[in-house]
Amino acid sequence: MRVTMVKKLLADGSACRKCAQAEDLLQRRGVYDRLDEVVIAQEGDPESPGMKLAREHEVDLAPFWIVEDGDGPPRIYTSAIQVFRDVLAIPRGAPPGPDSDDLDFDAARQKLAGMTPIEIVQWTLERFGSDCAIAFSGAEDVALLDMAIETGLPFSTFVLDTGRLHTETYEFVDQVRRHYNITIDVLSPDAASLEALVRAKGLFSFYEDGHQECCGIRKVETLTRALRHRPAWMTGQRRDQSPTRADVPILQTDPRFSGPDRTLVKVNPLAEWSEAEVWAWIRDRGVPFNPLHERGYASIGCAPCTRPTHPGQHPREGRWWWEDATKRECGLHLAGTATNRRRR
Ligand code: ADX
Ligand code: SF4
Repeated sequence: MRVTMVKKLLADGSACRKCAQAEDLLQRRGVYDRLDEVVIAQEGDPESPGMKLAREHEVDLAPFWIVEDGDGPPRIYTSAIQVFRDVLAIPRGAPPGPDSDDLDFDAARQKLAGMTPIEIVQWTLERFGSDCAIAFSGAEDVALLDMAIETGLPFSTFVLDTGRLHTETYEFVDQVRRHYNITIDVLSPDAASLEALVRAKGLFSFYEDGHQECCGIRKVETLTRALRHRPAWMTGQRRDQSPTRADVPILQTDPRFSGPDRTLVKVNPLAEWSEAEVWAWIRDRGVPFNPLHERGYASIGCAPCTRPTHPGQHPREGRWWWEDATKRECGLHLAGTATNRRRR
């Protein structure tokens, strides 16, 4: 693989501001040396090597990067963070991460116990690579995404779009997508199952006979599809979120969503953090957050099943408030185990 960066020099000989920022980013992340060549596009000189490359690849922005793999046409990147994540952050010739079944859970758990959340995120992405997905709910678990970005390692992320999220949450998800310049997979429920439920029971059956059926279709089935071929996923679950989460481990197997041929690993990097610690991270780093949090929504799910809480009330009291507190799980996080059990 060969990576060429094309940067622009202004007519007065100074570097263009965006190019200087991009170089700075790559240097701070320790990958600038992985560029094979840096070519100058001289403003006002169409014959300078960089200007010629810009014409050849039909790019009218600087900086840009040309990535040649040997086969197929070269790939062009115009975002430093993107070329970093997709190309430069991945050690060349590195073998794919180990299969989750090769993981020594006891040793890993001991190691993770002494780590901060961002170190746990880094460990997970180094081990499982970009197939490891972060489940992003559009709430304060945005801290997890910010940590993943900060590691500079490639990752995937998805939102389970139940179709019933608040408008603010949809807007926030899109704001996060633009803020970090990342791809967020927004996943829809199976149309046939959903239509059958709504035809039979209407749009608010959860107030009558509980949320499990609707969550099962709008969330759990979608998650099953999302995780089928993945080695690992990360969630923003914390122990302080709910009585049902008091024992959430940092690392666990997730038999419920494992595929036919591998054991899925589930990592909860924020498990030991309090709500206050998550918010300190968000505020200190200027991370965008869902505006509903400022309107009393401490825990955010679907619009018809979430309401604001008062100060002093447990955040979870705003979720499925008509149901017993011990049943307020939608099925995404029921069956994890902290054991080292293998499925084979
Ligand atoms: S829930 O099970 O009650 O809905 P909660 O809202 O506390 O979960 O979120 C816990 C974690 O589950 C989030 O940090 C996120 O990782 C995952 N999660 C919850 N809802 C979604 C969603 N709609 N899309 C993606 N991930 C989600
Ligand atoms: Fe349905 Fe409410 Fe569950 Fe959303 S939270 S999937 S609307 S029951």
